[in-house]
Amino acid sequence: MNPAGSDAATGAFDELAASYDLTFTETHLGRYYRDRVQAVCARYWPGAKRLLELNAGTGADAVYLASLGNSVLATDASRPMLETIRRRIAGRNYYGDINTSRVDLADLGALQAERFDGVLSNFGGLNCIADLDQFAQQLSARLKPGGEAVLCIMGPWVPWEWLWFGLRADVTSATRRLSRKSRWRNMDIHYPSAADTNRAMQAAGFKRIHREGLGFVMPPSYASDFVNSWPRVFAGLGRVESTLARLPCVVNLSDHHLSVYRKQ
Ligand SMILES: C[S@@+](CC[C@H](N)C(=O)[O-])C[C@H]1O[C@@H](n2cnc3c(N)ncnc32)[C@H](O)[C@@H]1O
Repeated sequence: MNPAGSDAATGAFDELAASYDLTFTETHLGRYYRDRVQAVCARYWPGAKRLLELNAGTGADAVYLASLGNSVLATDASRPMLETIRRRIAGRNYYGDINTSRVDLADLGALQAERFDGVLSNFGGLNCIADLDQFAQQLSARLKPGGEAVLCIMGPWVPWEWLWFGLRADVTSATRRLSRKSRWRNMDIHYPSAADTNRAMQAAGFKRIHREGLGFVMPPSYASDFVNSWPRVFAGLGRVESTLARLPCVVNLSDHHLSVYRKQ
């Protein structure tokens, strides 16, 4: 664990913890994307599994996974995010159970020696670390053989983003992912492709068993107000996206790529 480093790494998220659910989790887009990720998780972890959630944010997925009957260790490096999870679960009973712990993605070696049946990292936590190879090696040590890792990461090529910012003549924002690294609220954000992620995971002894794209037909989360103004149109587009999501071009040209890896 690297507490000083974690504070520096998640300062931006500390500030967002109080508003995160309102501005993302509870929006039309946030629900659509999260339902898609949760449907994938439910396939592999229908209950009675011991799961590690990394960069758990405000705990929406931890609660879902526990409601299926899994036992979840929900972790994040941001103290305010962890406080939000604790408030969310206080006084509520789940079929499974949830514990919380402060863990930095860049230092999984600090986790105790426990091995998990599955690991989830949802919605871009992994975009906050520079060394995906080191992460994959450390992740491998935390998973039982046959266990799955579900990773949802922002990708580098997003036509929706080019269009959205291009129409506003904001070339800097439209092209920010192309160099694979940008600055956001004093944090470095990295944009590995699905292939980059696969290379790092394969080298650490994982085999990819599923992949899909999130945000090819549907826009990124900053277009939430726009989506709310056209609910029927975007409900229809959401169905189109779900049908096309596994096509390789959709995986590669989406806001996020979602991959499932099995530890060999
Ligand atoms: C976009 S949010 C996603 C939260 C959650 N997974 C969800 O589905 O809503 C990214 C999360 O990654 C966490 N994070 C960023 N850098 C991290 C790091 N180095 N170690 C652990 N968590 C980190 C942030 O605190 C934040 O909660």
